[in-house]
Amino acid sequence: MSRLLLVSNRLPVTVKADKDGVSVVRSAGGLATGLRGPHERSGGLWIGWPGDVSRLTPQQRASVEAQLAELRCVPLYLSASEVSRFYEGYSNRTLWPLCHYLIDRIPEQERDWDVYRKVNERFADLVARHYQPGDTIWVHDYQLMLVPAFLRARLPQARIGFFFHIPFPSSEIFRTLPHRADLVRGLLGADLIGFHTITYVRHFSSTLMRLLGLETVVDRVAYDGREVRLGAFPMGIDAQAFENLAKEPAVLEEVRTHREKSSELRLLLGVDRLDYTKGIPRRLLAVQRLLEREPTWRGRLRFVQVAVPSRTAVADYAAYRDKVDELVGRINGLYGSVHNVPVHYLYRSFNERQLTALYRAADVMFVTPIRDGMNLVAKEFCAARPDEDGVLVLSEFAGAADEMGDAVMVNPYDVEGMADALEAALEMPEEERRTRMRNLRARVKEYDVHWWVRSFLDELQATPTPPPRVEPA
Ligand code: ADP
Ligand code: G6P
Repeated sequence: MSRLLLVSNRLPVTVKADKDGVSVVRSAGGLATGLRGPHERSGGLWIGWPGDVSRLTPQQRASVEAQLAELRCVPLYLSASEVSRFYEGYSNRTLWPLCHYLIDRIPEQERDWDVYRKVNERFADLVARHYQPGDTIWVHDYQLMLVPAFLRARLPQARIGFFFHIPFPSSEIFRTLPHRADLVRGLLGADLIGFHTITYVRHFSSTLMRLLGLETVVDRVAYDGREVRLGAFPMGIDAQAFENLAKEPAVLEEVRTHREKSSELRLLLGVDRLDYTKGIPRRLLAVQRLLEREPTWRGRLRFVQVAVPSRTAVADYAAYRDKVDELVGRINGLYGSVHNVPVHYLYRSFNERQLTALYRAADVMFVTPIRDGMNLVAKEFCAARPDEDGVLVLSEFAGAADEMGDAVMVNPYDVEGMADALEAALEMPEEERRTRMRNLRARVKEYDVHWWVRSFLDELQATPTPPPRVEPA
């Protein structure tokens, strides 16, 4: 097997500098958590941004670099202006809301395209510097859409894959973007472009047709003398790792503590990056609605919402945090008692053990994004339930919904409907809970992250290597 070069904006670890010094912590988010295991097992490199290192002393920087080298991670440092214009700017103020159908959140006048382009070029240069003939390059996500074409120009013979981790929106949405054609041409530098679902593949194909007049024949597109393949590869998780954690005595002890603390209560759980696509406000409103209309649930329900801080320098994320804070306060003010409150809101990152203990302790997992490329949390919850219990309530707008038909499906825009679903989940008979969970677990275990990596890379290996370019005499 050839050496694998993973390329993503975010490395699986992020440098954290605070008053206690500097540390390297695991990154949150589906891309980093999902690919961490496969990277550890491969002998390859992972090229990406390790987070802000601007305030580190030279000694701290050397120590960080040694730790990254140990993990076979190659850092690409972003300057303060690149963080603000490439990462927070074009990637997270324009592409992220666009792909999640939230075009009203995009700045009216976008000024960061040139920096997005420049940083993509810097990524391609660094990858090309580390590339050895025979390597396979796998580029990830919306922050790096131009990298495949930049790489193709530098390494015409290289095998290049690209995976898009977020929804690819309808061409009606995508074509609103001023640089729409450049982005699509950037992706077409790859030999294989993967998406989570067949719907995203279809949206991409119709975008190719509308913008460039390119026709997709089955799963292939002829472009610039090459053949580019498209495919749906639903990303999985390291199910075995979650299952093993869920059986560890220390984790089971923590599960007992969670349950004892709430022996009279039913435990409802939400776990997300604090992102406006995750549908947390309406989720909270659904809990509020249930307590409002069914007084018998008051004092019998504990909703634990864990939210990891994310993209805090982007104004929309700060505003979203305020909104969530306010709703939590309102619901607790209305339905709390001197002894208890219905919503336990934890604004911080949890380690995998703590998350697994929460997954395993929950009666109902509430996953309600208004749009989500896949949503791995839904899968982690199922993997962490070797007891075959617990109910998954899942948004029909998450990519995961295509595979997880045994979840209780909800429309995340419908607060009343979510309150109904929540009640149905809380009252679901044990036999039905077990049947659904057994089916969900079978799927999550069979189509895990190793299956995903294998199926994408097998398909990539099967693509024909581009013919050598014949330079005109
Ligand atoms: P996204 O990629 O948009 O963040 P996913 O659900 O696909 O959404 O992936 C989220 C990942 O981040 C999961 O692997 C999950 O375990 C992790 N995560 C989510 N919330 C937390 C948290 N509070 N602490 C630590 N990890 C978290
Ligand atoms: C999503 C994106 C990833 C991103 C992650 C965390 O999963 O698809 O590309 O890394 O969110 O976001 P961040 O901005 O912290 O990298």
